Amino acid sequence: MSGATSYIVKGARVLGGAVSDLLIEDGFLAEVGLNLTRAGAETIEADGLVALPGLVDLHTHLREPGREDAETVETGTAAAALGGFTAVHAMANTDPVADTAGVVEQVWRLGREAGHCDVQPVGAVTVGLAGERLAELGAMADSAARVRVFSDDGHCVSDAVLMRRALEYVKAFGGVVAQHAQEPRLTEGAQMNEGELSGVLGLQGWPAVAEEAIIARDVLLAAHVGSRLHVCHVSTAGSVEILRWAKSKGWNVTAEVTPHHLLLTDEMARSYDPAYKVNPPLRAPEDVSALRAALADGTIDAVATDHAPHASEDKDCEWSAAAPGMLGLETALSVVQEAMVDTGLLDWAEVADRMSVRPARIGGLEGHGQQLEAGAAANLVLVDPSVRRTVDPFALASRSRNTPYAGHSLPGAVVATFLRGRATVIDGKLT
Ligand code: DOR
Ligand code: ZN
Repeated sequence: MSGATSYIVKGARVLGGAVSDLLIEDGFLAEVGLNLTRAGAETIEADGLVALPGLVDLHTHLREPGREDAETVETGTAAAALGGFTAVHAMANTDPVADTAGVVEQVWRLGREAGHCDVQPVGAVTVGLAGERLAELGAMADSAARVRVFSDDGHCVSDAVLMRRALEYVKAFGGVVAQHAQEPRLTEGAQMNEGELSGVLGLQGWPAVAEEAIIARDVLLAAHVGSRLHVCHVSTAGSVEILRWAKSKGWNVTAEVTPHHLLLTDEMARSYDPAYKVNPPLRAPEDVSALRAALADGTIDAVATDHAPHASEDKDCEWSAAAPGMLGLETALSVVQEAMVDTGLLDWAEVADRMSVRPARIGGLEGHGQQLEAGAAANLVLVDPSVRRTVDPFALASRSRNTPYAGHSLPGAVVATFLRGRATVIDGKLT
């Protein structure tokens, strides 16, 4: 389990650019350069592979404690490592909710025991995600789990006074409030994106304004109290406009987009296949274009998976009864390659920025999101962008099967992942 093994990665394209060898020793990148040798080191031939810093997810549902039938810290972090991640933020909507130091420490410890990637618990903003009173934010920040990101994800902190108090509170320890922006009254019973298609399909619409109204309010609140806001899973063109405006003011606002909102549209709902039911919903093609452009120009800072495993009893039912959410960890990089790299919108260095450097900075994770230079912690992933594969839900490491990409052909494959110099994945398989 230590970083005792050394590896020489031979001839990788660092960030998709120059070809180089990487010497991994004692948990660190000891050397990056040409013709490296080291007695006793294991050689990994990386001809044609792209080396990136280990991916960091700001938004993962690991479901433990409480819904171990859908996912556990063990299975979810195995999926993460296979997807090229070296750290994930575990969302707080567990059962019990992660709203105390005790629960966040439990999740953090389970992550350490599993050992596939670092698990950074997110703390709930309000007790029980009920939106009524603030949880013990300070106690979670001071706990062994060192919580810095707070979110009621799955629910919106819709009360403006509570949101203001949370933003004020986290300032004391450099925390951030990550908002699931969904005005609850405007989305009662909502099933899919509100538009012509929701009318045709007879499904209750989830209007863009329900997201945009909360984001507009919250960027103003964050500016007013001088605190940090992060916006989860941005899904509409209008949200992008508000974020662009807030950033032009110099306000401390960051945002994420999911892989599925970069690739899939509300047209998928025509199938009535609950695999495509997610919250916020898949949107119109114009929204997808705006999200891609915003990720490319940096208005949206990061890609975050919103990996949301659900047991088959919660998904294999009619659309209206199905739980919202889809798997993301094992397909995220491939979807980003398809939507952003193969379309020429991002190069691999920018993928590293949006999927590792910036999410690590937003989450305040030390040792992650570093450049691949001598002296950095050896958290990295080797990717083969030249292959294509067909997604088989039964081949995934996640305990759940609710991928929207079953049977889809996607580009790219994670070949190896290293966590502090230890291989968690080799030849595309868990070690
Ligand atoms: O689709 C979603 N699923 N959106 C959320 O905000 C929560 C998540 C879940 O926990 O299943
Ligand atoms: Zn959410």
